[in-house]
Amino acid sequence: MSRRRSWALASGFFAIAVAALGLSAYSGASSSQGFAPVQPVNFPHPRHVQQLGMNCLYCHYSANKSPDPGLPAVSTCMGCHNLIPPKRGDIEGVPPRDSAAIAQLLTYAPQARPAEWKPIPWVRIHKLPEYVRFPHMRHVNAGVTCQTCHGPVPEMQRVYQYASLNMGWCVNCHVKGYNLAEGLLAAGDTAGARAALDVEPKKARYDCAVCHY
Ligand code: HEC
Ligand code: HEC
Ligand code: HEC
Ligand code: HEC
Ligand code: HEC
Repeated sequence: MSRRRSWALASGFFAIAVAALGLSAYSGASSSQGFAPVQPVNFPHPRHVQQLGMNCLYCHYSANKSPDPGLPAVSTCMGCHNLIPPKRGDIEGVPPRDSAAIAQLLTYAPQARPAEWKPIPWVRIHKLPEYVRFPHMRHVNAGVTCQTCHGPVPEMQRVYQYASLNMGWCVNCHVKGYNLAEGLLAAGDTAGARAALDVEPKKARYDCAVCHY
């Protein structure tokens, strides 16, 4: 290929990229940022993640192996909730409670009757258009923390869409690179963040075909 021809291609590519970012900024106006649907069971992340110390991958079991992070099966919930009734008196100083949310769970999965357990119809919050490819495992294995993209989920009584998920958001990080210290800080790991201050930002490819089918 002659030098002149490759420059023509490069500027054509640049024009497309600028046009696409313009389009994408426009589409940002209709993004679902902040979307926080009511779920069929009022599942609290804070109780499970902050108080019980559960790892994200316990429930979103394929986030480091597959494009799709996965949602927990009802049998995962019932592994514990088979033994946790909605109503209980105080146990060794823990105040008594009557949980409407656990009662909701048991309408899908009656205790001790696993043959009657039905999947919970969770309302999907984050959704990219069909023509975009997004591999969770590539990000998770590159050390991008969940909170970088999903925000403070461990504190969310109800999950909401934290980031815009528009093209400018994706491309911006791929071009500038992922800052590990910022990502660890967002995940609440201050010691890790301090140790990672000198780590070079991790860049990723940003040609159209990386993300588009
Ligand atoms: C005990 C199981 C459990 C654990 C642990 C857990 N989650 Fe979840 N997560 C769920 C369930 C159930 C839903 C669907 C209901 C909802 O949105 O609250 C969900 C929904 C989500 C969603 C929204 C999914 C969508 O529809 O777009 C995100 C993002 C998420 N979790 C991130 C995390 C992160 C980050 C962690 C760790 C800090 C975590 N989860 C830990 C069970 C869990
Ligand atoms: C590792 C064990 C474990 C797993 C797995 C688990 N939970 Fe829980 N969950 C608990 C414990 C412990 C509590 C606190 C119970 C209490 O306060 O007595 C709890 C509390 C709850 C509450 C009540 C919150 C409130 O304050 O009213 C709901 C609702 C709930 N879990 C739903 C779920 C759902 C849905 C799943 C599956 C996606 C799930 N849990 C998975 C252990 C678990
Ligand atoms: C680089 C940003 C990024 C990171 C890091 C990331 N996610 Fe996501 N997540 C997304 C995007 C974008 C979607 C929507 C994907 C789609 O529609 O194909 C999503 C969707 C989800 C969903 C909904 C999937 C469904 O099928 O309902 C869950 C649950 C989730 N992420 C959990 C996690 C967890 C847990 C982690 C950390 C282990 C994590 N994510 C890390 C950007 C990210
Ligand atoms: C890092 C990932 C990524 C790269 C690289 C990327 N895109 Fe996108 N693109 C997206 C995402 C995500 C969307 C959907 C969200 C939105 O519309 O902003 C999108 C949407 C679009 C749309 C539809 C916009 C609309 O408003 O409906 C066009 C057109 C597009 N991209 C073209 C391109 C072109 C051309 C390139 C190469 C110059 C490119 N994209 C590179 C992630 C990417
Ligand atoms: C916070 C930073 C960040 C955001 C936001 C982000 N990415 Fe990435 N992405 C990365 C990093 C870092 C890698 C590189 C992983 C590696 O080198 O293994 C990557 C890799 C990828 C890959 C694999 C690239 C390859 O070379 O095969 C795809 C596809 C991708 N991202 C798509 C997206 C899309 C689509 C979005 C937006 C919805 C997005 N990313 C948002 C940081 C990010």
